[in-house]
Amino acid sequence: MSTLRIALLGCGNVGSQVARILLEDADALAARTGARLELTGIAVRSIDAPRDVDLPRELFTTDAEALVESADIVIELMGGIEPARSLILRSIEHGATVVSGNKALLALDGPTLYEKADAAKVQLSYEAAVAGAIPILRPIRDSLSGDRITRVLGIVNGTTNFILDQMDTTGAQFDDALAEAQRLGYAEADPTADVGGHDAAAKGAILASLSFHTRFALDDVYCEGITQVTAADIAAAKDAGFVIKLLAIAELLPRDDADGAGAEGVSVRVHPTLLPRDHPLAAVHGAFNAVFIEAENAGELMFYGQGAGGTPTASAVLGDVVSAARRMVLGGPGRTETTTGHVPSMSIDAVRTSY
Ligand code: HSE
Repeated sequence: MSTLRIALLGCGNVGSQVARILLEDADALAARTGARLELTGIAVRSIDAPRDVDLPRELFTTDAEALVESADIVIELMGGIEPARSLILRSIEHGATVVSGNKALLALDGPTLYEKADAAKVQLSYEAAVAGAIPILRPIRDSLSGDRITRVLGIVNGTTNFILDQMDTTGAQFDDALAEAQRLGYAEADPTADVGGHDAAAKGAILASLSFHTRFALDDVYCEGITQVTAADIAAAKDAGFVIKLLAIAELLPRDDADGAGAEGVSVRVHPTLLPRDHPLAAVHGAFNAVFIEAENAGELMFYGQGAGGTPTASAVLGDVVSAARRMVLGGPGRTETTTGHVPSMSIDAVRTSY
C-alpha cells in the first residue's frame, strides 16, 4: 500500500480535530482510500500553546515552509490571508494537492489560487469553507452541474442565526444574545465578521461562484449585518407572520432587454431578510446552517446541518482529503475541482431586494 504524506497547517479548533481523526482512524482511512494517510507534521505558531486535543509533541513544527515541501496533501486551516496564501501557492508549485477551509482567503483571492492550481493541474478543494459539516460545494459543483441553478439562499453564519433566533424565541436584546453566542464559542474571535455579515458574504461569494460558473470575490457582495436589528423589529416581523434571518442570497436576474436578449446578471448579497414563517429556512434554529437551492430541473433542495465547530468542520475537511487521496491512488494528482470557467457576459448587480 502506498503512503500519502499529509502536512497540516494550523492546529486550532478544526485543525486539532482533523489531526485527531487522521491518527485515530488511520486504518479505516487507509482501507477507504487504498493509501496510508501519514500525518507528517503540524505547523503552528507556538509549539507549547494549549490545545483541546492531546497530540504527539513531535508532530509540531514552526517551519511551515519546510513541511509543505515534502507533502503530497497540504491541509490549510490557519485562517487569515498571510501566510496562508503564500503557503498554498508554494504547495501548488510543489504539485501538492491542497485542502483548505479558509473562507476569507478564498473569497478575497480565490481566483488567483484557482488559476494557479489549474495551471499546475493540481487539486484545490475547500468544502469546509462554507457551512461547516454540510456537504454543499460538491453537490453544487458536481451533482447539480447538469442543471441550471436559479437561486441560492443560505443561512451560512451560525452566530447570527443563533442571535436572531434567541431574539425571536426569547425576546432577548441583541447584546445579550451576542454575549451568549460568544460564551458558547460560536462567534469568531472578533465577532465583527459575524454580526457585520462579512463572514456570510465570504461564504456567499464562494457559493455564487460555484452556482453560477463565474468568479465572485468578497467585494462583489453587497453586505449588511444584523447590528441594527432590534428586538422591536423582530417582534413586528413576528406579528406580521415573518421571521428575520441573515441570508446570503445569490440569484440569477432576468435578462435586461424587453425581448429577453440582454446579458444575464447575478445578484449576490447578504442582509437581514424577512422570511415567511412557513419557509423551510425559517425552521433553522440556533447556530445551525442551511442552504436552500432552486434549480430549473431539480426544483427546490435544502441542505441542513452544523455550520461550525471543530468536529463537524473536520468532517468536511476529511471528506476532501479522502476524495483527493482516492484520486491520487487511482491516477495521480487530479485536476483542480474548483475550475469555474469565467463567463464574461454575466454582470453583477449587488442590489438589495427583499426575499
Ligand atoms: N463564526 C462562524 C459562524 C464559524 O458563526 O458560522 C463558522 O464559519
